[in-house]
Amino acid sequence: MNGARILLAVSGGIAAYKAASLTSTLVQRGAIVDVIMTAHAEQFIAPLTFSALTARPVYTSLWDAPERIAHIRLVREADIAVVAPATANLIAKLALGLADDMVTTALLAARIPIVLAPAMNEAMWEHPSTREHIATLRARGYEIVEPDAGFLAERERGVGRLASEERILQTVERTLARRRSMDGLRVTITAGPSREAFDPVRFVSNAATAAMGIALAREAAARGATVTLLLGPTLLEPPHGVTVERFTTAQELHDLALGPAAGADLVIATAAVADWRPAQRSDTKLKKNGDDLTVRMERTPDVLAAIGERKGATFLVGFAAETDAHEEHAREKLVRKHLDAIAVNDVSRERGFGTGENALVLLWNEHERRDLGRAGKPVLAARLLDAVAELMEAR
Ligand SMILES: Cc1cc2nc3c(=O)[nH]c(=O)nc-3n(C[C@H](O)[C@H](O)[C@H](O)COP(=O)(O)O)c2cc1C
Repeated sequence: MNGARILLAVSGGIAAYKAASLTSTLVQRGAIVDVIMTAHAEQFIAPLTFSALTARPVYTSLWDAPERIAHIRLVREADIAVVAPATANLIAKLALGLADDMVTTALLAARIPIVLAPAMNEAMWEHPSTREHIATLRARGYEIVEPDAGFLAERERGVGRLASEERILQTVERTLARRRSMDGLRVTITAGPSREAFDPVRFVSNAATAAMGIALAREAAARGATVTLLLGPTLLEPPHGVTVERFTTAQELHDLALGPAAGADLVIATAAVADWRPAQRSDTKLKKNGDDLTVRMERTPDVLAAIGERKGATFLVGFAAETDAHEEHAREKLVRKHLDAIAVNDVSRERGFGTGENALVLLWNEHERRDLGRAGKPVLAARLLDAVAELMEAR
C-alpha cells in the first residue's frame, strides 16, 4: 500500500469504532488516509481519533471544511474509496445517488473504485430494500465486502457483522492492484447491436444488448485504462468514467472505429454488427400495398476486418457469437481478420445475447484456447481482461 491514497468514509453504526483500527493499519502499511464521516458517525466515534491516527484533517460536513469544495479534491486525489462501516441508510443513499452530506456527495463525485463493507443488524441486511441496493451498487462496480456471521451488537448471533479487518484489507489491496494493472493503456471497446433502417420507422437489427461490452468497459476503466466505448442502440447505461461515442449503423461504427481504434493499445470488439443492410432506404414509411414485401439486402462494411487490416501495434480481440461449429468458425475468423485473440460464445442455447450469464472460450494462435467458464458478465469481463493482459505481456 506504499503511497496509496485512500479515502475512508465512516458512517453511523456500532462498528464505527473498528474503522479506527482499520485506519491505523492502513497508515502503518504506508497508505495516506483521508477520513470523511457522516454526522451520525460522530455519535459513535470522534473525528479527533481519526485525525490523530492519520495526522490529517477529518471532514464531517460540506460546510465547515477550510476549503470550499473539499469533497471533489478528496475523491480526485484518492486512488480508492473505502466505506467502512457502511450503514443500511448510507447504502440506500448511495444506490439512489443522493448527495446531502460530505460522504454521499464525495462518493457520488468519485470516479475511483469503491470498496464497501456493510455492517448492520441481520434483519436490516436481509431486507429486500437493502438486497436491491447492494445489487445495484455491485452492478455499478462497487466491491462489496460481505458482512460476517457472528455476535451482533444486539447480543444475538446473525449475519451483519462488519467483515474482518483482514478481509477488508485484502479487498482493498486486490482492488488497488487491479486498478493499476491497465494503468495508462488506451482501450477501445465496441458494444451493442447495429440498426439498418429500410424506412424511417423500420430496421433490421439483432438481439445484442451491449451488456458484455459495457461490463468490459467498466472493468478496464476500473483497472486504470483510458476507455472509449463505441456504443450502439441499447437501453443499458454506459459506465461512469469512460468516453462514450454512439453509433446506429454498421457504417457509422466503421467510420468511428477507425478513429479511436487506430491509436489504441487494445481493441475489444463485442458489437454485434449487421452483416447485411437493406440496399435501399425509403424516405417515407412504406405502405402495405401488396401482401408481401421483398427487401434486397447488401453487405455492410466488415468493421472488424477493417480494424484488423490497419491495426499496427494494437492488440485486437474479436467476439464471435456462433450457433454451430463454434470454435472452428471462430478460428477461421481469427486468421482472416488478423485478430490477436477471439472470444467465442454459443448463442444457440440462449447464452450470450441479453442474458445476464454468458459462457466464453478464448482462442489465440493456431491451437491455444482457454475456457473462461460460465458466469455473470462482470465476472467474465474480469476473466477475459486477465487473460488478455497475459497475452499482451507475453507478446
Ligand atoms: C446504537 C445504535 C447502533 C446502530 N448501529 C447501526 C449499524 O450497525 N448499522 C446500521 O446500518 N445502522 C445502525 N444504526 C442506525 C443508524 O445510526 C441510522 O440509520 C443513521 O441514520 C445512519 O446514518 P448515516 O448512514 O448517515 O451514518 C444504529 C443506531 C443506533 C442508535
